[in-house]
Amino acid sequence: MHLHKYEKIWLAFGIISLIVFLSVVGVSAFHQGNTPSGGHMTIDPNKVRETAPFDQTGLHERSDGTYEMVIISQAFGYDAGDWKVPVGKEITFTLTSEDVTHSFSIVGTNVNMMAIPGQVNHKKHTFKEPGKYLIICNEYCGSGHHFMSAEIEVVE
Ligand code: CUA
Repeated sequence: MHLHKYEKIWLAFGIISLIVFLSVVGVSAFHQGNTPSGGHMTIDPNKVRETAPFDQTGLHERSDGTYEMVIISQAFGYDAGDWKVPVGKEITFTLTSEDVTHSFSIVGTNVNMMAIPGQVNHKKHTFKEPGKYLIICNEYCGSGHHFMSAEIEVVE
């Protein structure tokens, strides 16, 4: 088979483009694995309950007077200890998923987090009013999605 000179050039150009493309994809995938964008931490989704802080779900007081609430979402609910948090204190919600993608959305607040397997997400919130707040899953996650909810109690 005889290839015209320009066809050879275009063939070479195509192969080089492909190599460049694959390198870029490979490098960015590698890069994301090490320093995920947006400051998210990663976690082995099969070892969530053995990995800190998810080995101790629920509320933890920090030395600076703020709090962290550690939550594991799974089909079709959330594990977050006894669901009581203090009013007027900064609470960092720390969230991951054990199975599929869910969300953790506190109705009436701006807390609307994605729960993604392999990823740890954080969101800070300070409740100004005591009372009970509904938590719902906004991501379709299977047959029990519409029943996936919880209630958090904000206490004085
Ligand atoms: Cu979990 Cu929808």
